[in-house]
Amino acid sequence: MPIIINHVAVSACQGDITSWQGDMIVNASNSGLFGGGGVDGAIHRAGGPQIAGECAAIRRKQGGILPGEAAVTSAGKLPLLGIIHTVGPIWKGGDAGEISTLARCYLSSLDAACTQGAQSIAFPNISTGVYNFPKALACQTALRTVVEYVKRRDSGGLPLKRIEFICFEKDNADLYEEMLKRYGDI
Ligand code: APR
Repeated sequence: MPIIINHVAVSACQGDITSWQGDMIVNASNSGLFGGGGVDGAIHRAGGPQIAGECAAIRRKQGGILPGEAAVTSAGKLPLLGIIHTVGPIWKGGDAGEISTLARCYLSSLDAACTQGAQSIAFPNISTGVYNFPKALACQTALRTVVEYVKRRDSGGLPLKRIEFICFEKDNADLYEEMLKRYGDI
């Protein structure tokens, strides 16, 4: 069940983000935008080589992106408006600014989606795979950041109407469901 904040529906489900239907999906990439395994590999496989080509162009132009930043490419073969590539923090124990970097991933992706005029966006659970960010803390950070963003923005000026968290793993889907309920109760 989505919760509605400022006319924006925020929800979570278990699934594969490459099958999601909407405007833009977010990729958990790396600073060189090189493509990799996990959700990055799945998105590049599903979207085809055009995405890697556009990532290479971004690399040539600006040398990649820093953790917390975002860059946009087309979605290749995927029927989407585009892909937002962001780079999450590698978990190093929590004292290296990992939480604020993860929050910036969500903020810069939301800003990028709004700049593109996207009405819907889907996020994977950034950094919770290879980058080893603790899942419950990542979930809290993601939801708090997105909810505050939606509350802060005047909904009249926000193109986004639907924000979904697509959790590949059941434990993440359960965490999001539980935490979304708490936001819904507030
Ligand atoms: N759809 C949605 N989520 C997925 C999918 C998918 N098809 N495949 C994997 N995931 C989930 C994982 O279960 C995990 O919860 O995405 C989350 C993020 O995991 P990773 O893909 O490993 O991303 P991250 O931890 O941010 O590490 C990024 O991994 O693939 C490389 O190039 C990438 O170097 C970068 C690093």
